[in-house]
Amino acid sequence: MGEGGRPCDQVRVRVPATSANLGPGFDAFGLALTLYDELVVTPGGSGVTVHVSGCGADDVPLDESHLVVRSIRAGLEALGVQVPGFTLRCENRIPHGRGLGSSSAAIVGGLAAAYGLAGEPVDRERLLRMANELEGHPDNVAAAVYGGFTVAWLDGDDGKAVRLDPSDGLGAVAYVPANRVLTKEARGLLPSAVPHGDAAANAGKAALLVVALTQRPDLLLTATEDRLHQEFREPAMPESLALVHKLRGSGLAAIISGAGPTVLVVGGRERTCPAPPDGWERHDLRVDPVGVQVWSMEAG
Ligand SMILES: Nc1ncnc2c1ncn2[C@@H]1O[C@H](COP(=O)(O)OP(=O)(O)OP(=O)(O)O)[C@@H](O)[C@H]1O
Ligand SMILES: [Mg+2]
Repeated sequence: MGEGGRPCDQVRVRVPATSANLGPGFDAFGLALTLYDELVVTPGGSGVTVHVSGCGADDVPLDESHLVVRSIRAGLEALGVQVPGFTLRCENRIPHGRGLGSSSAAIVGGLAAAYGLAGEPVDRERLLRMANELEGHPDNVAAAVYGGFTVAWLDGDDGKAVRLDPSDGLGAVAYVPANRVLTKEARGLLPSAVPHGDAAANAGKAALLVVALTQRPDLLLTATEDRLHQEFREPAMPESLALVHKLRGSGLAAIISGAGPTVLVVGGRERTCPAPPDGWERHDLRVDPVGVQVWSMEAG
């Protein structure tokens, strides 16, 4: 249904890629990036028809198990709205399994589409809670919901976040390798305990990174130093760690994006970042300021 209970012709959604962790902000920090998945949902019939173009088109299922479809269904149920069938078209630009938040974009995009189908304005706080439940952690979904730079945490089981404005014109260059690494696999490499000194260093650098991202881009290189997760992931992505070391050695604030294997240079600029290694893609991006967006078209 559309606004005021009128049938809704079509819902369009645009949702950004996100980079979590950003070095020391493990499981908490997120940055929304100007690389987008777009969805078009047209209600009708009793089942689902799914069309996918772009990233993941050859891999994702085209039935009720599709992550966007599951998220639309979960959103409709939470909002108490009946939409038995719909056609979903996905134009995907966020690569899958590379640490750029494709699963979060699918979940946040699907839930936002449910708001559009229900004819309700998006309640971002609630959307984040629902997205966290589906994704299992709040860092990427927070940035996809709010845009900008987000600090997320769990309050009991509830995903919460604050959004901060990154400093003007903050850029990011993403180096994306051809191979995938599943989040589960990359997480499995982390130790269950770390030395107190490493934990203390990370806490200080995370606090500094908030300052660096919002006011002092000159501090980004030192503020993105991490001792909790990146190096442990090397066996799953040795080329990514080698690239991080090389870029950092030349003064660029390079980090592993999310669970990898993408390498992100925060504050990176086209002029200063080198060409990607053979077989890698490079995306010159900026910070997305607004997060997921929804447009509903009313019938008649
Ligand atoms: N747009 C999408 N449509 C349907 N399924 C998707 C979509 N995006 C992601 N998925 C599902 O999520 C999986 C990738 O999730 P995973 O969390 O491993 O990687 P990621 O989200 O790209 O990276 P990260 O979580 O490290 O940022 C895909 O293999 C696919 O099953
Ligand atoms: Mg994911």
